[in-house]
Amino acid sequence: MPEIACINGEFLPLEQALVHVEDRGFQFADAVYEVFRTYHGKLFAVREHLQRLDRSLRAIALQPAFTSAQLETLLDEAVRRASFPEALLYMQISRGQARRHRGLPAHAQPTLVITVRQLESSAPLRQTGVKVITVPDQRWARCDIKSVALLVNVLAYNAARQAGADDALFCDADGTVHEATAGNLFIVVAGKLITPPAGPKLLAGVTRDKIVQLTGATERPVKRAELLAADEIFLTSTTAEAVPVIAVDGQPIGPGRPGPRAAAVYEQFVRTYAGGQ
Ligand code: PDD
Repeated sequence: MPEIACINGEFLPLEQALVHVEDRGFQFADAVYEVFRTYHGKLFAVREHLQRLDRSLRAIALQPAFTSAQLETLLDEAVRRASFPEALLYMQISRGQARRHRGLPAHAQPTLVITVRQLESSAPLRQTGVKVITVPDQRWARCDIKSVALLVNVLAYNAARQAGADDALFCDADGTVHEATAGNLFIVVAGKLITPPAGPKLLAGVTRDKIVQLTGATERPVKRAELLAADEIFLTSTTAEAVPVIAVDGQPIGPGRPGPRAAAVYEQFVRTYAGGQ
């Protein structure tokens, strides 16, 4: 099956898809993005992802050339052309190509890029769970915008890998924990499901929001000390769904293996949204 791309509405093989070196996405990370997936060949929560994209675009005053309805049509077409059993779709909209200057270009046409690949199943991670470390939250002050400025996320993820862990959790100096490098955080304390509240310090995940609706999880600040004492922790995202965390900074969480609540939330999530995979 072909890995394909779509640039400004035109479909082509992924390896032939090129963007100009003076694209502002490349030069300034002046761009926002979304990650979509399919279940059984159908896009999951496409409207919710497009709404968040619209919020991100407005937040950086970027007016794209395509309406949400047109973007949805392109996504459907991309899924159809690639025809992977389960697909991962990456969409980025940048402010376009312009002579490098930090001022907003008057005439640049925004660049729309969509890429489609086969989605790797998160099933192995649900079996083993993942280990995380906590890192100081040095990200910018608007983590609610799905900005492509992910350098700090990249560095934190790599610090985790070097420390023998799988991911990192961003933590303020006062110990408040916000989210992982590409996913949201839930903890289980005395049977209660808790997730940090939406706000500028984290990206409100579509997966997180669905799980809050499904489970009635409490949204309130979470401290690092609570993590270490939690019965269970799990991370959520479009691609990972719900993956249990078995250790934080080298300390086991609960018995140090994937717990029943994370598995139950995953089951409830896929039963509701993924046709019971
Ligand atoms: N990112 N927080 C951050 C920082 C993220 O990058 C993501 C997802 C999430 C979860 O959002 P959602 O449930 O809508 O996927 C939270 C995507 C998957 C990525 O960058 O690959």
